[in-house]
Amino acid sequence: MDRAALSDAATAFLACSSPAAWLAAAAQNLATVLIDHANCEMKAASTALGFIYRYPEDRDLATRMSRLAREELRHFEQVQSLLDRRGIAPAYVSASRYAAGLHEAVARSEPERLLDSLLVGAFIEARSCERFEQLAGFVDGELARFYRGLLASEAGHFQVYLALAQSRAPHDYPLAERVAALRSEPDSQLRFHSGPPVQPRGSA
Ligand SMILES: [Fe+2]
Ligand SMILES: [Fe+2]
Repeated sequence: MDRAALSDAATAFLACSSPAAWLAAAAQNLATVLIDHANCEMKAASTALGFIYRYPEDRDLATRMSRLAREELRHFEQVQSLLDRRGIAPAYVSASRYAAGLHEAVARSEPERLLDSLLVGAFIEARSCERFEQLAGFVDGELARFYRGLLASEAGHFQVYLALAQSRAPHDYPLAERVAALRSEPDSQLRFHSGPPVQPRGSA
């Protein structure tokens, strides 16, 4: 698949593109977006390792998550280098409400907990893929090339999470309904995965 097809597949899964208001806000706040991006790569690696800790009996899952974690840490290093080249000082940026909201929706008992967690992974990776494609049209050439280079990797992660969920789902797990339930809401803070910015009071 070419880059556009990969992004289209992710967008079809998400069922909605990133809103223009998010893209405009992101382009105006690139330092925040880049610092949050570095954090997201680190968290993506940590999430992948978490699956290995929690489900040690599933060797196939462990192998895939180990590979995925290594790729995410490589991305983390690449974003850190970009921050350094641009003279963007390290700063604390709080975590996005988006991922926390998705994780709250995860079932507490197995096997639904594993399946929901894999779908949350698919959502976050698909959103990354879709956002890189969209953001590339709003940023300078170096950053656009960087985002487009990451896109294929994140699309691959999206497919890994989705395929794992599909292959481990018992026939009575309502996969399509769970995907539909994990859609995002408006956000009051700008982060890499956040939803459309909440409109200030009084604005249209
Ligand atoms: Fe990544
Ligand atoms: Fe990823």
